[in-house]
Amino acid sequence: MRNIVMLGVQGSGKGTQAEMLAKEFFLPTVSTGRLFRSKIEEGTELGHEIARYVEQGDLVPKDIVCQVVTNWMDAPAARDGFILDGFPRNVDQAEALTEMLSKNGRMLTDVVYIRLSDEEAVRRLSGRRVCTNRDCETKFHVDLHPSKHDPDKCDRCGSELVHRSDDKPEAISRRLAIYNRETTPLIEYYRERGLLREVDGEQSITEVFKSIMENFRD
Ligand code: AP5
Ligand code: MG
Ligand code: ZN
Repeated sequence: MRNIVMLGVQGSGKGTQAEMLAKEFFLPTVSTGRLFRSKIEEGTELGHEIARYVEQGDLVPKDIVCQVVTNWMDAPAARDGFILDGFPRNVDQAEALTEMLSKNGRMLTDVVYIRLSDEEAVRRLSGRRVCTNRDCETKFHVDLHPSKHDPDKCDRCGSELVHRSDDKPEAISRRLAIYNRETTPLIEYYRERGLLREVDGEQSITEVFKSIMENFRD
């Protein structure tokens, strides 16, 4: 059984690669950011609270994150393995994850770390366009890989594409600062535990995927 975590700076391609890996390993995948964006759209009180953090690029409080992740991980679909994208984001959350898993005798098996420079991260996020259909959320990039038929519509499902509100310059620099302060310690944390599978993110999407698969074969 594989319980995988995707780690890497914003824009490193965690979401992009998690979806490719999910198909390869027949595993369910979840992005905490995506779960939060759905909650925001539902317009509930919880959604309003989450929006205050996400739109600024700040971390959502731990209690909310852990609740949302636990609900997803304990559902029947995720009992035989999963891929988490966007959680954990600091040592505190990593410890909470170990605890959540050990309650049902599970443990983390792999951490895929996609290495990328901050400069490239900014370039990817500034040009990212995301499909507004929550069941699709296909990602495009205005220069690197635009939607082919119509630059404002999703090639896969035809829905409208948007520039995420946290992909504006101010929120991007806040997110990167938080990543560098809170999330980078997880690289050593998981390396020490022998779980880290590190790949170079400064390659094309298919090359990054190839590197991840080669790493799993080693
Ligand atoms: P989330 O949605 O997880 O956003 P993020 O962490 O900022 O990560 P991104 O989705 O921006 O990056 P990605 O690595 O998935 O890149 P992608 O594949 O899209 O979280 C949003 C917010 O929710 C957070 O800011 C926070 O507020 C909150 N939150 C979430 N989890 C939380 C937690 N655990 N605790 C507290 N708060 C939490 O790729 C980026 C772009 O590059 C795309 O355009 C893509 O097409 C392109 N691209 C990807 N790979 C390549 C490549 N190899 N070559 C060229 N282009 C590429
Ligand atoms: Mg993502
Ligand atoms: Zn779509």
